[in-house]
Amino acid sequence: MAGHQGRRMMDKVRAQYERWIYPRPVEDLEAWVAGGGFSIGDARDFGDVFWPATGYREGMNILVAGCGANQAARYALQHPTARVTGIDLSEASLAHEEKLKAKHGLDNLTLRRMRLEEISGLGETFDFIASSGVLHHLPDPLAGLTALGGALDIDGVIFIMLYGRYGRAPVYMMQELFRILGATDQSDEDLALVKATLPLLPEKHPLRTYAARSSDMKFDAGLVDLFLHKQDRPYSVGEVLELTEDAGLVFQAWLEPMYYNPDSSVPENHPLYHRLDELPDAERWRAVELLGGLHSRHDFCVCRADRPPHSYRIDFGDPGFPDRAVPLLRGSALAPAAAGKPAVLSGPRIPPLTLPPALAAMFRTIDEARTISECLAAIDLSIPPEELHRHGLRFFRSLWRTGHVAFRLKDPP
Ligand SMILES: C[S@@+](CC[C@H](N)C(=O)[O-])C[C@H]1O[C@@H](n2cnc3c(N)ncnc32)[C@H](O)[C@@H]1O
Repeated sequence: MAGHQGRRMMDKVRAQYERWIYPRPVEDLEAWVAGGGFSIGDARDFGDVFWPATGYREGMNILVAGCGANQAARYALQHPTARVTGIDLSEASLAHEEKLKAKHGLDNLTLRRMRLEEISGLGETFDFIASSGVLHHLPDPLAGLTALGGALDIDGVIFIMLYGRYGRAPVYMMQELFRILGATDQSDEDLALVKATLPLLPEKHPLRTYAARSSDMKFDAGLVDLFLHKQDRPYSVGEVLELTEDAGLVFQAWLEPMYYNPDSSVPENHPLYHRLDELPDAERWRAVELLGGLHSRHDFCVCRADRPPHSYRIDFGDPGFPDRAVPLLRGSALAPAAAGKPAVLSGPRIPPLTLPPALAAMFRTIDEARTISECLAAIDLSIPPEELHRHGLRFFRSLWRTGHVAFRLKDPP
């Protein structure tokens, strides 16, 4: 969007987040954490995904770009050795972040009111940048992501959340409805109209499936954010990849890979599985997004094009990969198998996988020290070594594609 128009749009977006602070302000972050509060993309939780060569490191310089009411303070609390900078357009959101900073004594947190497009003005680079739910509200998301990329350290990672095009289709139907009705001011009256309209939707209206999964339906600023936003564009998988490339960055990984790969949703003996499996990565991800249909957000990470690929690229096509990739569990464990029944592998926020005995035996070789090759050498399945290698690689690839494992990458020889 061009200069003058873009600035006017940014003023409107800012005005929304001054009045309708997002997300719902948390009053006590420690209580929130103790109550199981979780937000995807945290640098420690996903450290093995973001930095396969080293894992999470203490003392990082972290930027939370478009921090809203809580996110920068949460980072500062949960990463006490990190230096955290939170930036946002909204004074009201920053005021709440300041309140949390004082309440929890977060000396490692700096807050600034600024546009993320102007981040180069700080003259700093960051090891980690989190920007969730922000770029899709910018007049020019590419300019925003390019600016963030310019502030990234060579081994740095940007975690991004963007709205998903297909899963959010019902939200855009409703946005259009409210525009037709003239509810374009984000006023109390407009919000009242939204609240009065939603219960009238027919039982099978597509929004109902969406609404059942959305926490934004439960508070006023969330309803404004969903249905009365002035500037909100969704992305398909193809558009995520294009945005990343156009910003001069490299797509690194999906944080919930099970939504982009068939391994937990299509049985391996189904003809569709093989069609999908033969596709190049980007095409397979696009196809599985269409097949799933309901995914309303993309959580992913990107990095600099000059970051050394051997330090982060997970490449099952590289013959040397099994010798330098150490499988790490991401909270998954095998449930004890009942006699004669296949074992079930479960993990937090991941669909369970059913494992026949041979695969359960392979899973048990994971000790977070052995490489894939060493895991396979440690089991005795009385099948020819080439066959074991082939099945084993497929198995570890499917554990990775379903989010059950990450890999620690050793240096290449
Ligand atoms: C939907 S909220 C997300 C808040 C937070 N990232 C989270 O996930 O909880 C979007 C935030 O981005 C901020 N924002 C929008 N455009 C921005 C820009 N150009 N630069 C910095 N912040 C911006 C808004 O003020 C708002 O607080």
